[in-house]
Amino acid sequence: MSKTAEIKFEDKSYSLPIVEGTENEQGIDIAKLRAESGLITLDPGFKNTGSTKSAITFLDGEKGILRYRGYSIEELAEKSTFLEVSYLLIYGELPTAEQLADFQSQIKVHTLVHEDIKKILEGFPSNAHPMGVLSSLVTALTAFYPESLDPNRSSDKVNMSIIRILAKMPTFAAWAYKNEVGHPVNYPDNSLDYCSNFLKMMFALPAEKYEVDPVISSALDKLLILHADHEQNCSTSTVRVVGSSQASLYASISAGINALWGPLHGGANSAVINMLEGIKKDGGDTKKWMAKAKDKDDPFRLMGFGHRVYKNFDPRAKIIKKAADDVLDKLGVNDPILDIAKGLEKEALEDQYFVDRKLYPNVDFYSGIIYRALGIPVDMFTVMFALGRLPGWIAQWKEMRENNEPIGRPRQIYVGENLRPYVGMEKR
Ligand code: SDX
Repeated sequence: MSKTAEIKFEDKSYSLPIVEGTENEQGIDIAKLRAESGLITLDPGFKNTGSTKSAITFLDGEKGILRYRGYSIEELAEKSTFLEVSYLLIYGELPTAEQLADFQSQIKVHTLVHEDIKKILEGFPSNAHPMGVLSSLVTALTAFYPESLDPNRSSDKVNMSIIRILAKMPTFAAWAYKNEVGHPVNYPDNSLDYCSNFLKMMFALPAEKYEVDPVISSALDKLLILHADHEQNCSTSTVRVVGSSQASLYASISAGINALWGPLHGGANSAVINMLEGIKKDGGDTKKWMAKAKDKDDPFRLMGFGHRVYKNFDPRAKIIKKAADDVLDKLGVNDPILDIAKGLEKEALEDQYFVDRKLYPNVDFYSGIIYRALGIPVDMFTVMFALGRLPGWIAQWKEMRENNEPIGRPRQIYVGENLRPYVGMEKR
C-alpha cells in the first residue's frame, strides 16, 4: 500500500501520493494538487521543493554525505580521476580500462577549437571577466556545430556534442585567461592528460619551456572531482530548465555557467579570497568581521560559509582543507590567508549565531587557497568551478532529456493590481 499525505483545505481533504527514493527520502507528489483543489504551493528559492527524480548524485545535508552514482566522494577523490568520474556521472557506471581509454582518446581528438573562435576571443577586451568569455565561447559552439542545436538527434550524435564540449572547455578556459593577461593562446597538447594539458595551455609562454608539475596537476584533478556534480544546485537547475525547452546542450551549459558566476554560488570561491585578503589588509581582526557577518544591517556575509543543503560539514570542504595543507606544503607555499581562514572557521564553529543556523565551511571556503597556490588568478577560480561541474551539468541535462521531462514552468501567486480601466494622459 503506497503512502499518502492528506491536505485539508476549507471543508475538503485531498490525498496526495508520497514518492520515496532509494535512500528513503520522501516527497509529496503534488502533480494533481491544482487540478483537484485549485491550490498551488509557494516556496521561494525552492528550499523545500524537489524538481525531479534523479539517479546521479545523492546528498545528505544532515550527515554530510555526497555520492556520485552511489560512490562516496571521499573514495572517488582518493582513488579516481576526473575523467573517470566524468564518465561515471554521464554514463552511470565506472568505465572499464578499455572504455576509459576510448573516452580519453575521443576527448583528445576534439581539444582543438575552430580557428575562427580566436576572432571571437579577440573581440573581448582584456578586462573581460573570464566567466563571460567562457559562456560566450560555449554558446559560439552552436554556430560551429549547428547539428548540436537539435537535442533530439540520435544518441551517438548527442554523445558527439558531449565529447566536444568536454574536450574544448579546458581550451576555452585557458584562452579566457590568456585574453585577460594579453598573452598569445596556447594550442592543446594531446600528449598530456586532461589537467596537465589545461595547465600547459594556461601557463606556457612562447619564450619558455613549460613543464607540468605533477603535484599541481594531481591537486587540480582532485579539485575537479570534488566539483563534478552536486544534484539540483542553482546552476544545474538552470541547465535543466533551459534544456527542458529543448534548447541545445551548449545553450544549456552556457546558461549554467552564467548562473554559477554569482557570488552566492560558484562565484563564492573568488569572494572568499577577496574577503580573506580584505581581513588581512584590515589587520587580521577576524572578530570584527564575524560581527559584521552576524549584523543584519550589514550586507557582509562570511563567504564560503553556509549551504542550502549541508547543515553539517560539507564533505568536500573537509577534503579540500586537508589538500590545502598538503599542496601548500609540497609546493613550499606559506600563505598567511590560510591561517586567517582556519582562524575564522574555528571562531565560526564556536559562535552561537553560526551554530544555531548550522553554518559550516562549504566547498568554496578553502578551494581558492589551493587555486592561488597553483598560480591560478582569483577571477579564474569560478572558471575552475565550471570546468569541474561540466560533467555534472552534462549528466543532469542528459538524464532530463532521456526522461523526456516537461518544460520547466513554475506557477506564481499574483499580488499586483486588480482589474482597472485605462487612464488617459490628461488624467494621470
Ligand atoms: C555553492 O547548492 C549547492 O549545492 C551549491 C554548491 C554546489 O556545489 O553547487 O554547493 C556550491 O554555491 C556553495 C555556496 C557558496 N556560497 C557562499 O559561500 C556564499 C555565502 N553563503 C550564503 O550566502 C548562504 O549560506 C547560501 C547562499 C549558501 C545559502 O543560503 P540559504 O540556504 O538561502 O540560507 P539563508 O540565506 O536563508 O540563510 C539562513 C540564515 C540567515 O539568517 P536569519 O535570516 O535566519 O537570521 O543564515 C544566515 C542568513 O543571514 N547566513 C549567513 C551566511 N549564510 C547564511 N550569515 C552570515 N554569513 C553567511 N555566509
